[in-house]
Amino acid sequence: MSLLIKGGVIVTANDEFTGDILVEGEKIVAIGKDLPANAVQVIDAKGKFVLPGGIDQHVHYSFDYKGEPVRNFETSDAAIVGGTTTVIEFVNQEKGKGLAETINDYDKREVSTLAMVDYAFHSVICDPIDKTFDEIPSLPSEGISSAKLFMAYKGLPFHSDDAAVFKALLAARDAGVTVMLHAENADAIDVLQKRHIQRGEVEPIYHAISRPPIVEIEATQRAVQLAKLADAPAYIVHVTAKGAMEVIRDANKEGAQVFGETCTHYLVLDKEHLAKPDFEGAKYVCSPALRKEKDRESLWKAVDKRWLNAVSSDHCGFNWKEQKHMGIDNFTNIPNGTPGVQDRLAILWTYGVETGKISRQRLVDLFATTPAKINGLDGRKGHIGVEYDADLVIYNPEPESVISNKTSLHGVDYNLYEGMKQKGKVEKVFLRGKLMVEDGEFMGKQGDGERLNCKPFGLSYQA
Ligand code: URP
Ligand code: ZN
Ligand code: ZN
Repeated sequence: MSLLIKGGVIVTANDEFTGDILVEGEKIVAIGKDLPANAVQVIDAKGKFVLPGGIDQHVHYSFDYKGEPVRNFETSDAAIVGGTTTVIEFVNQEKGKGLAETINDYDKREVSTLAMVDYAFHSVICDPIDKTFDEIPSLPSEGISSAKLFMAYKGLPFHSDDAAVFKALLAARDAGVTVMLHAENADAIDVLQKRHIQRGEVEPIYHAISRPPIVEIEATQRAVQLAKLADAPAYIVHVTAKGAMEVIRDANKEGAQVFGETCTHYLVLDKEHLAKPDFEGAKYVCSPALRKEKDRESLWKAVDKRWLNAVSSDHCGFNWKEQKHMGIDNFTNIPNGTPGVQDRLAILWTYGVETGKISRQRLVDLFATTPAKINGLDGRKGHIGVEYDADLVIYNPEPESVISNKTSLHGVDYNLYEGMKQKGKVEKVFLRGKLMVEDGEFMGKQGDGERLNCKPFGLSYQA
């Protein structure tokens, strides 16, 4: 089956030109001007932008917080409707199981028959025994090229101490596995949380007050030093504070292999949202916490200047009514995490490109190209090029709308960006040449997504 996408403005991470894209089966086979229109299906993309399908390298479809599970891959149509064609899921290691065993069992049980986007996995170390670290070098043979540790959640089963972080870095180094770190000082947070609760300060805003920027800055510094000590690269996930971004930027300038991403919500939402009345603030509880405008401005600058190299959603589908309300009398029981997989492209476009904060090329790089490189999916995903998978988004820049949970497919009872303006629309999405989204509507089916193998020695090793 051949497909010709004609006359669109093709945007890559370093180029933009009007042209045609010819697809045969699952692959792009030609890109050029005025390609002969003898394909079976011809799509007129005049006046539209053609972008590579997004890679969201930070999603949670299997996370659970104090027993509350997020919405699973049954809701992954939200990703593709928003222009994301690949997600990379963090899978917390189950007690008594290996990292790859946990992932492979989870894939069989809950992902392969449901996924509506292509997907890959990050391992998450939760059982810091020797066997776990010994397994790290063999992860690439299972298509897994990353291991994450949470430095932030004292007392929860997925928390890791510095010894675990250091051992993971040492084990990962020669195997080309990228160690990803959620950097916050868990001990300091724990002390602050207990003090607030004792004083009766139980509302959602105290989530942010008990996780001030300095706990993120300190842990980021510590992560950088541990990475240097291990002589291994490290990737810091969801960077939010100006000071933490500066730690990464400066370490990188000095030659350390330390890189980081931020997330969509940290670019457009403030800490003040957690102070909304009637427990609405709980909708915005995530870790690290939302920051102030000065941090947001510095994050936009950082993504533009490549000091941070990706924007992810950190998608976590917790419902507000039943699940976030667990913490109605104690903010520490509010499940941490916010939904957003559907809105990443529209937010980056509307608040980044349309305002002149980033170029379209930069958007493509942050949204798709660099996440593919970090995770060893380049050569196949994240770019519009011959021999790449035909994962393509046709974006119409004209329509104006308002973001609403009514049109969100994430299966959650609220949208983080409710009421915010959106410029442009994801009109069509192709996944490996198959039309999955037409006029913004999902056309695919459960199980259309395929598991991807991530190669080791991703971008953090090469830079
Ligand atoms: O609050 C967040 N970010 N929840 C998801 C788990 C994590 O820390 O990434
Ligand atoms: Zn995290
Ligand atoms: Zn996360």
